[in-house]
Order: sequence, then structure tokens, then C-alpha cells
Amino acid sequence: MSIIRDKTLAPAGRKKIDWVKEHMPVLSHLEHTYAPGQPFKGLNLSICLHLEAKTACMAEVFARSGARVAITGSNPLSTQDDVAAALAESGPEVYAWYNATPEEYNSHLRHTLDAEPDLIIDDGGDLITMLHREYPALKDKVIGAAEETTTGLIRLRAMEREGILAFPVIAVNDAPCKHLFDNRLGTGQSVWDGIMRATNLLIAGKTVVICGFGWCGKGIAARARGLGARVIICEVDPVRALEAAMEGYELKPLMEAAPLGNIFVTATGCNAVIGKKHFTLMKNGAMMCNAGHFNVEIDTSSLEKMATSISDVKTNIKKYCMPNGNNLYLLAEGRLVNLAAGDGHPAEIMDLSFALQYLAMDYLCRNRGTLSRGVLPLPAELNRQVAILKLESLGLTPDTLDEEQQKYLCSWNPDPGQ
Ligand code: NAI
Repeated sequence: MSIIRDKTLAPAGRKKIDWVKEHMPVLSHLEHTYAPGQPFKGLNLSICLHLEAKTACMAEVFARSGARVAITGSNPLSTQDDVAAALAESGPEVYAWYNATPEEYNSHLRHTLDAEPDLIIDDGGDLITMLHREYPALKDKVIGAAEETTTGLIRLRAMEREGILAFPVIAVNDAPCKHLFDNRLGTGQSVWDGIMRATNLLIAGKTVVICGFGWCGKGIAARARGLGARVIICEVDPVRALEAAMEGYELKPLMEAAPLGNIFVTATGCNAVIGKKHFTLMKNGAMMCNAGHFNVEIDTSSLEKMATSISDVKTNIKKYCMPNGNNLYLLAEGRLVNLAAGDGHPAEIMDLSFALQYLAMDYLCRNRGTLSRGVLPLPAELNRQVAILKLESLGLTPDTLDEEQQKYLCSWNPDPGQ
């Protein structure tokens, strides 16, 4: 029995799912090709992902491909109750609602694991870490898993280093068709969509400070620039800092950027990136938000302690009056702003990410018992398959090498006559 907020919301959720499905041709193609053979028949698939329309679309494709699907959300603020209701109506077991308390969130994860998964799709590592902590008896049953995001892989690699990761986990995030498009272009667009929906303010002319110039940070920076903002990058990795500088962005330590910014965006996967010492330097009206997986990048507990008063300004905006008289604003409680204040990445982007997830699950099943435990790359040919399918869906054709060129590129001594 699903645990959802309100099943009468299902018709609205169904419209959302139907809309995104039309824009996910690669996933549809995989369904038409694979589903008739029922590749996941008899297998339990437990999913922990942001529970919005694109995710629901993917869960239904797995269900139609034979899997018994149990699903929960990967963030308390990214679950959409109408989508959860529609999905529960169509077959999968759904355990999630918007604004779950930490206890509810964990109980939803437990219900998803009670389904005794053979396969797991995780986003952030919460499901896999809980399985290892609380469900050791299930470890041997799991054929394998796939991880969707950078932060999840950081956690799983730590488990692998400690020798405790019990089954193979495919690093879907590391496949080029994931991070080049999802982390960079998807986050680039959807973070600004979330900020603009929450604030309804102009971006042009504002000074935007972006912490982290990784895949997400690059996308957020490019779109901020395109919207007419002055962009300052704060980055701890010298190579990426240099890349930002050579891309023409201003590069500063956060202590120097703090007094300058109108909007601050964190996208690092690190904790307490913006903290007490920065809050005191920020100017009146500065707004902060986070795009990283967990709500730890902005030190909200220090912000709460420092503030002389806190109030809700409107949905997804909280005002903190600081002792120096300045007002600082926090969007979406410091949770991923693109999912908490928006609908997440565009459907065309999640089409790629979820096609990779589908092929990762199929790969795990086809190679059952032969893969080593640990974090494994998604095979390059599967990444290539997704790229080709996406190009085809766009009516585009890549160029091809002729025989001579192929020979040349495979030779260490291409033209001995010269
Ligand atoms: P990445 O590893 O490519 O980039 C992170 C960057 O932040 C690195 O260059 C690192 O040096 C830098 N960094 C770390 N600590 C820092 C600090 N204290 N100050 C300044 N820079 C710092 O990771 P990616 O793929 O960009 O992901 C970043 C976060 O966003 C992760 O938590 C990931 O899970 C999450 N994510 C969120 C999405 C969304 O929809 N909002 C989509 C994809 C990923």
C-alpha cells in the first residue's frame, strides 16, 4: 500500500507525467525496444529519486518492463504530491510526500527497502547507505545499483574504500551523457528557473556569486552570464579556478565576494560553504540558495542563531534580520532550489539521464554475478548508445570516419613512407 499525501490529486499529476513523457523520446524508444521482452520480470526495483514527473515517467517504464517498483523521494521538498498520487494509481508502490519530516523521510526510505530490492536506483546514496546500516540481510539479494549524483558517489566511494560496499554500483553520474547535460545544462537552466519562480526578480545587472565551478557550477555560471548578471566564481580546486578565470569570470575567495553579491548560489557538495563569517559581510538584501544535493552548503543553523528575527516573506523565501541591521534572504530552506522551488531539470535532459539508468539496470541484470562489488563505470558503449538515440530523436546525424581514417587513427606509425 502506497503512502502518499492525497490520492485525489492524481489527475493533476497524470497531466504532468503525460506532458514530460512526450519530451522523453529516448526513454520511450528503450521502452518500445526492451519492454516486450520483460527484462526485469520478477525483479524488485527500489528507487530513491526526486519524485517529480520525469522520475514517475521512468518508474512507469520500469514497471511496464516487468519490474515491481517501490519508490520514494530523495529530498523532502522535491516530492510533488500530485505526481506521487498519479504514480501510485498506475502500479508502483510510492512512499513519499512533500515536506516530510526527517522521521517521515527515513520511514519512507525504510518502506522502499522493505520491498526487498534486487535492483536499486539511488540519488544521493540515502537508500544504499540505509540498506547497509539497517538491512544487512538484504545485501546478498541485491544484484546491483546505480547512483545518479555526484554527492551519492562521494559517499559510496567512501564505503568502497572502507571495504563495506556489498554489491556493484554503476556510477551513472560519471557517464558523459549524464554530467555534461544533466549537471551542466540541466542545473544551469533549472536553478535560474527556481530562483526566478521564488523571487520574481530581475537577474540582469545583479552580482551573482557562485561557489563551486564543477559541472553544476559551470552551467549555473553560463546561464547567469546569459541573463545579464555580473558573475563571481569561488572555487577551491586550482585547475577549476583557473578554468573559471580563463572563461572570463571574476575569481575571488568567498570572503572577498561576500560583500559584493546580490545572489549567492552554492553547488559544491561540501558543507558550510557559506557560514557565519560570510553572513556578517553580506550586504542588505543579499539572497542565498543552494543547488548541491544536501541542505548543508549554507550554514542555516548559524544563520538562525545570529538572526534577531526570522520571518516567511513568501513561499520559498525566508528573511533573516541580522544584528547589523541588514536583511538576508534564504531561498527554499537551503535545499536544492531547482527542485524545491521549481520542477527540476527539463524533460529533454532527464530523458538522457533516465535512459542511462534504464540501460544500467539492464546491464546489471545481463551481467548478474559477474561484476565485482564497488563503484563501477557505466560501459562506454551504453553512453554512446544513448547519445546516438538522442541525436536520432533530434533528427541529427553525426559524421562518420571512412576506412582510411579509421586505420590512421588506430596506427602508431600512420605513414611510414614519409
Ligand atoms: P563537481 O565535483 O563537478 O563540482 C563541485 C566543485 O565544487 C568542485 O570543483 C570543487 O572543487 C568545488 N568545491 C568543493 N568545496 C568547495 C568550497 N568549500 N568552496 C568552493 N568550491 C568548492 O560536482 P557537481 O557535479 O557540480 O555537483 C555539485 C553538487 O550538486 C553535488 O552535491 C551534486 O550531487 C549536486 N547536483 C545537483 C543537481 C541539481 O539538480 N541541483 C544536479 C546534479 C548534481
